[in-house]
Amino acid sequence: MTAQDFILESYNSTIEKGKVKWSSPSNIALVKYWGKRDQQIPQNPSISFTLSNCKTITEVTYVKKDSSDFSFDVIFEGVKNEAFKPKIETFFKRIEAYVPFLKDYHFTIDTSNTFPHSSGIASSASGMSALAMCLMSIEQELGAQYSEEFVIKKASFLARLGSGSACRSIEGELVVWGQNDSTDSSDLYGIKFDGDIHPNFKNYQDTILLVDKGEKQVSSTVGHKLMHGHPFADERFKQAHDNLAKLKSIFASGDLENFVKIVESEALTLHAMMMTSMPYFILMKPNTLEVINKIWAYRKANNSNVCFTLDAGANVHVLYPESEQDSVLEFIKNELSDYCQNQQYIVDFVGNGAEKLKIN
Ligand code: DP6
Repeated sequence: MTAQDFILESYNSTIEKGKVKWSSPSNIALVKYWGKRDQQIPQNPSISFTLSNCKTITEVTYVKKDSSDFSFDVIFEGVKNEAFKPKIETFFKRIEAYVPFLKDYHFTIDTSNTFPHSSGIASSASGMSALAMCLMSIEQELGAQYSEEFVIKKASFLARLGSGSACRSIEGELVVWGQNDSTDSSDLYGIKFDGDIHPNFKNYQDTILLVDKGEKQVSSTVGHKLMHGHPFADERFKQAHDNLAKLKSIFASGDLENFVKIVESEALTLHAMMMTSMPYFILMKPNTLEVINKIWAYRKANNSNVCFTLDAGANVHVLYPESEQDSVLEFIKNELSDYCQNQQYIVDFVGNGAEKLKIN
């Protein structure tokens, strides 16, 4: 498919108003997206587990107005919010060619997260995917006749234009984004991983340790840009393709030992790219390293398959198979929670993606 295929050609402009509501989860990348070109086109493929508990819930009300410019209000956790508006305005500008009614309506975007505010957890993936699903529902209320498959694809396509990683939150359990030889994925949208998945990877657990809840000094958007002209960029992009191919056979065979190696290497490579860009920066905190060392010691002592991954921040995602749930949660409570701000962590697991909600 090409971008042209996502243009809504005609719609029923006599509809005066309506309301739609979706929830959409966050996701955690195993092979990381870091570096992009043009309009949100990734420099390498990525794959992620979709999460369950870390979600954004968004209700969009639309009311007909004169078509002149974008008009919308954002309400975040019950309070009118100006800070999110520029990002949404940029999103609307990028998607207007595909969603041509955006200037015909005033939108009230009422949104909240299930995870604590300023937890250092990126809400852009869940937020942009929830908004993209709301826009797809509005397209359908305005008369678009789409297959379910097309709705999911276009939602992922739109979400990508809001925030790259958001395109991997529409579906579960594993989603691939970015052209590669191992899957049928595209640079334009994420697809559900269609390879075999061994029972070892079913219901995989992710406990997110809130090591640092403050705002990051360097945003992902800036970090992606620093991959342009980065001395190790080409090798890194090649490595992501190789790691995705390896993960594909690991998912089929259930090889947890090699899963751990690839996932941890991806996390450290992501941060190595940050430390070797110009300007360089470090997003890990001392407690991030303390936690990593504790995980390594626990894994060795207990013959465990627990491992870590990191996003563009200091928080640690602790990943483990469902079979180790009780023991690893005990370990987290007893040995890792002290490294978290206010001892806070979020217990999550792999989920199935966005869900349409009833309007109250
Ligand atoms: C480190 O999707 O947040 O989490 O496209 O600029 O919004 P933008 O970036 P974003 O980057 C996420 C980077 C990452 C890795 C990943 O999720 O693949």
